[in-house]
Amino acid sequence: MAWISDGKGCRIQFATYDEIDDAMLQYWPEDDDKDLTTTIVKRGWAFVDGGKAHHTMHLHNLESKLLKKDTLYMYQVGSVKGSATLWSDVYKFHTPSSGDTFEFVATGDMGTSNAVSMPNLLRVANQHRYDFIAFAGDQAYDMADFNGTKGDEYMNFVQDIYATIPVMAAPGNHENTYNFSHYKNRFSINPYAESGFDDPTMYSLDYKSLHLVSFSSEVFFDEGSPEQIQTALQWLDQDLAKANANRHIRPWIMVFAHRPLYCSPSESEDCTDKADIMRNGLKETDFGGLEALFLKHRVDIYICGHRHNYERTYPLAHNKRMATSYYQPPSFFQLIVGNAGNFQGTDSFENASVPIADWSALRYEGYGFSTIKVSPTKLQISHHQSLPKDGALGRMVDRVIVRKPRYTNGRRLRCSSNAAASTNYAFDNEEDETTAAYSSGRSSISCSMHHHRHQIIP
Ligand SMILES: [Fe+2]
Repeated sequence: MAWISDGKGCRIQFATYDEIDDAMLQYWPEDDDKDLTTTIVKRGWAFVDGGKAHHTMHLHNLESKLLKKDTLYMYQVGSVKGSATLWSDVYKFHTPSSGDTFEFVATGDMGTSNAVSMPNLLRVANQHRYDFIAFAGDQAYDMADFNGTKGDEYMNFVQDIYATIPVMAAPGNHENTYNFSHYKNRFSINPYAESGFDDPTMYSLDYKSLHLVSFSSEVFFDEGSPEQIQTALQWLDQDLAKANANRHIRPWIMVFAHRPLYCSPSESEDCTDKADIMRNGLKETDFGGLEALFLKHRVDIYICGHRHNYERTYPLAHNKRMATSYYQPPSFFQLIVGNAGNFQGTDSFENASVPIADWSALRYEGYGFSTIKVSPTKLQISHHQSLPKDGALGRMVDRVIVRKPRYTNGRRLRCSSNAAASTNYAFDNEEDETTAAYSSGRSSISCSMHHHRHQIIP
């Protein structure tokens, strides 16, 4: 399942090997089974794997109507053929709370073997505490393998997770077979059409104070083309420009995709030539890469996988650290969360000949997954260890808090401290200042109230 924006509704996909007449979705609040809603779609479409066996399945996308907030829903899907209806197991999901805070999970790079974080992700799903999983590419290793049956095996493997908590995915290099056909079909519930993109490889989602963009890093590599790069970057530019104009409603902008813009150690091609392509684009095109757009539209965080470890950077730009604090950061920073677990194991940072780049804030080469708590003024990022022996939850590997001033009634608090002194974050022109003060945690910070003449919120 996947969200449409703000969790107002969800989309659910299921697969059948046989062609059916109708696909049905029935859902009801857990505490009120008389309040039952049914939606029906006609037979779906046949998805044929590109392998020699022409392995075929029928996929069915269903969408809920508007959902109530703060509600646990039960649901099941049904396939109707002739006079017979077969129903799936009943699953449960929760809708967004009415408060302004939520949490989500970020992870990537998980297959059916050595899926160390799988038990933790199942626990996370069943807790109904996290609102979605952002999955930064490379699922199944690979869905197209064994004439596409690996994709079926993987979707069955993760079904109890993916049917319980919406999964907002991005494509990775292990999804690129047959022009991403498995990803484009099996993740066609991604909200791409309403995001103005013409296939499921890119979309964005508004969710409370977050604007989340799912981008395909793969346009720059193997299966990509200059036309695809241009289309993707133009779409991203427009999407981010719109999001940046709506900061007063959604202060945070995160982009996630599969490959890193920065990573360690520099001996790896992923962290040199390929990271440079992600940042600056292909030398033979003049479209540029992602970094200029992230800086132009003041993206807060970039999340990715591909490297099978966890690495957090400081705020950075053009290969240089811009700050050592996450208080009103002057530029974006990056999290690599590609350590969910797969048959390739983890990527080591061990390399004595290379000094650690000054932008690398924390490196962890075990298994795990991240959680991010989002409120209008604060992000709390945590990384949790998954233990390889039995998939148990280990220690908390990392925790960092990112803060920015609150936008309220067309004003925002602006604070000066050592960390923030050089940031000059935005909206500098049309402001009147009145001085206020508040204290945070350890030290007192002096703040200014900035009035914006052109804010839209009344
Ligand atoms: Fe990858």
